[in-house]
Amino acid sequence: MKQQILESLRNASTVVSGEALSAELGISRVSVWKHVRKLQSLDYDIISTSKGYQLVRSPDVPFPWEIPGRASKIHYYPEVTSTMDVAMALARDGCPDFTIVVAGRQTKGRGRLQRTWQSGEGGLFFTVVIRPDIPPALGSKINLAAAVDLATTLRRMFTIDVKVKWPNDILTQERKLAGILLQMEAEADRITFMNIGIGLNVNNHPVAEVPSAVSIKEILGQAVSRKKILSEFLDQFETRMKRKTLNDVIDQWKRLNATLHRRVKIITTSEQIEGMAEDIDNSGGLILRLDNGRTRTVIFGDCFHQ
Ligand code: BTN
Repeated sequence: MKQQILESLRNASTVVSGEALSAELGISRVSVWKHVRKLQSLDYDIISTSKGYQLVRSPDVPFPWEIPGRASKIHYYPEVTSTMDVAMALARDGCPDFTIVVAGRQTKGRGRLQRTWQSGEGGLFFTVVIRPDIPPALGSKINLAAAVDLATTLRRMFTIDVKVKWPNDILTQERKLAGILLQMEAEADRITFMNIGIGLNVNNHPVAEVPSAVSIKEILGQAVSRKKILSEFLDQFETRMKRKTLNDVIDQWKRLNATLHRRVKIITTSEQIEGMAEDIDNSGGLILRLDNGRTRTVIFGDCFHQ
């Protein structure tokens, strides 16, 4: 009902009487008034006078009803420990493909390799639960696909030169704009579910905590819509997953990458490896030319451009 009231107010873009709303939506005027009060408490600026209601401004909060066509599969929390925790519980409980958990803030945001992820107000923090009908070995391609689709979405929406750093960091001007964390459960030959957690610095100021990070607002000098970014990314990523082929991912990743043909240091939980990043293989592993002339393929780790 909130979605319908907002749609009517947006379409009118002027004052709409309570009577007109109640007739259009088939609910009582008292009920219209209650919904409007609820929306006002969620920070919608709705002027309410004896003539009716007028929507002046909507908050940039990814409430389920603000993401077109996805309301029933979006779970929004003003604050959670981590969207990964909620998504894991939902996935194990059998939630449908393309369920999304999104949070205003995270108190225990997680990054790769057991790091924390700064999750302050203004950022976009979400996890998508997918159930692709593919073997677990192809999971790493989905990892790259999510990075490619996020980078492409941001390049299309804004005038920023967005690149991907192996395996799935999103950079602009060599600083980190977004990170992706994957969790997967599988049977022997099939993925049961895969949770893709994305943290994107949108209107927040990550630099205070992480000097190598940056947000879209800091780059553009103005706030941008988290709702629109989320919606456009989900549309792009879902279209890809429906095509049921991951054949083009490696080439797309290569076209957007900032890692290949550079000297890199890879840090894993157990070792450090340095070399020239020569290529990625068909599973997304990074092929390094070591100083002794040999090649070595790494499949996970933190990559530092030297
Ligand atoms: C990285 O280390 O680069 C990955 C960061 C992933 C952060 C996102 S924010 C939404 C989701 N919930 C989390 O706790 N982590 C991921």
